[in-house]
Amino acid sequence: MTPNLNLTLVIGSNRHGRFGPVVADWLLGHVRQRDDLTARVIDLAETDLPTSLARTPEAADALAGTTPKLSAADAFVVLTPEYNHSFPAALKNLIDWHYTEWRAKPVAFVSYGGLSGGLRAVEQLRQVFAELHAVTVRDTVSFHNAGDSFDAQGRPKDPTGPDAAAKTMLDQLVWWGTALKEAREKRPYAG
Ligand SMILES: Cc1cc2nc3c(=O)[nH]c(=O)nc-3n(C[C@H](O)[C@H](O)[C@H](O)COP(=O)(O)O)c2cc1C
Repeated sequence: MTPNLNLTLVIGSNRHGRFGPVVADWLLGHVRQRDDLTARVIDLAETDLPTSLARTPEAADALAGTTPKLSAADAFVVLTPEYNHSFPAALKNLIDWHYTEWRAKPVAFVSYGGLSGGLRAVEQLRQVFAELHAVTVRDTVSFHNAGDSFDAQGRPKDPTGPDAAAKTMLDQLVWWGTALKEAREKRPYAG
């Protein structure tokens, strides 16, 4: 029987007028078609985490809505745009607020941006997640000139490539998610 993994999708942009939810909804459509993943979402536009990393009452409120979704995850998809050849500050803040929640779990990426399709942001995120003992998935989904790549209904104008890339990425994520979940259950991660 195919195991069902808890997937948490992090929407990494909180910019006013952002494009991120269009890409997130497209990806969630793919996840919902599968019987091996159940998705939760952390949307950084709805998460008011302070950057001071101080455990104030405001921070506790924000963490109450985010930390359980990270703890419960067997696998992550991080959706990131590219800002100045990197990833958004709000995304780094969410990552830095947590530690054990990422450990010994797989992280896959969907990126978007201008010419680079967010790939520079993804490569930088791989370094960050390595420090957190997370395993990043090789294949990604990326949208170059994202604003022009989707129609008014939020569908990719040319879906063949993105659909295939999403399947490959999610298949790899499920393999790693299953393997690491079984390993964690057998033996607590000791890194
Ligand atoms: C502050 C800022 C910096 C950006 N820098 C880059 C960049 O370095 N490379 C790139 O390809 N696109 C860049 N862009 C374009 C964004 O990736 C693109 O507008 C994307 O849709 C932003 O995601 P969002 O709409 O969800 O916030 C930048 C956009 C902003 C707002």
